[in-house]
Amino acid sequence: MEIKTVGVIGCGLMGSGIAEIAARRGYNVIVREVNDDLLKKGLERVQSSMARGVEKGKLSAADRDAALARIKGTTAWKDLEPADLVVEAAIENLELKKNIFKELDAVTRPEAILASNTSSLAVTEMASVTRRPDKVLGLHFFNPVPVMPLLEIVRTFLTSEETYRVARAWGEGLGKTVVVSKDAPGFIVNALLIPYVLDAVRMYESGFASKEDIDTAIKLGLNHPMGPLTLLDFVGLDTTLFIADEMFKETKDPRFAAPTLLRRMVTAGYLGRKSGQGFYDYT
Ligand code: 3HC
Repeated sequence: MEIKTVGVIGCGLMGSGIAEIAARRGYNVIVREVNDDLLKKGLERVQSSMARGVEKGKLSAADRDAALARIKGTTAWKDLEPADLVVEAAIENLELKKNIFKELDAVTRPEAILASNTSSLAVTEMASVTRRPDKVLGLHFFNPVPVMPLLEIVRTFLTSEETYRVARAWGEGLGKTVVVSKDAPGFIVNALLIPYVLDAVRMYESGFASKEDIDTAIKLGLNHPMGPLTLLDFVGLDTTLFIADEMFKETKDPRFAAPTLLRRMVTAGYLGRKSGQGFYDYT
């Protein structure tokens, strides 16, 4: 099966990035948002990211224009009909995602592959509401999608070899390096990342070290691009808390139990960069 047209559900941080890289690699992209306002904001995000790409010399103005012309925005499910592969990148809510998979199962051709960009929810749950569970898998991209070279593929018990092979070739064609995980909580990256960032919050919460020193220690001592608290602000404290809670709910493993400080910061609206305030001030 050849992928020519890619559907993307949701044009937020991840969806806009996935739409961008697919269009840049020559795919026709149909991106769906729930309303015109969110669609407009999402498409503006794609435009400004591509503008940054041009500024940084990563793509020419002509390639940018051609890529933008390949993206079609919509709020209608039926417009997804021509898609050979759909990547769902809606908010992390299992019931919502199951409804999306039911819709996709109804509107796309039976041979289309349906993927989720979920960071923590069970892909098998989404596969189970479709009539094509063998054609469902996880395609977990990393933020910022145009820059991060990894794609984590999540294979469920039900994913067929053919679906995996086609999706893997597509991901590699986008220039990503692929790793493969079972449908286990957090997959590879978040199973390791979440205990690490939660430990950093606990370290700061207990007065062990200042936030700046925790970040500097990891940045300079381990050569990470960002320390753990800066990374938390970048990913979003609410997103991280959600992932941790999901992983804890499924495993009851204390490594995934969120520290009180993180929970209180989220309640207070300290969500990181996106809200202007997290561990650091971005206003
Ligand atoms: N298109 C193409 N390339 C772009 C681009 C764009 N829109 N924007 C930036 N770039 C390129 C730049 O040209 C540069 O390339 P170069 O190294 O060849 O010069 C490179 O990307 C880095 O960009 P910048 O120089 O602008 O930015 P920084 O050097 O400050 O890096 C960062 C920014 C990439 C965000 C870096 O700080 C980083 O890697 N941070 C960690 C990010 C991370 O860990 N992400 C994963 C989060 S976890 C996740 O997503 C999973 C979820 O489930 C939680």
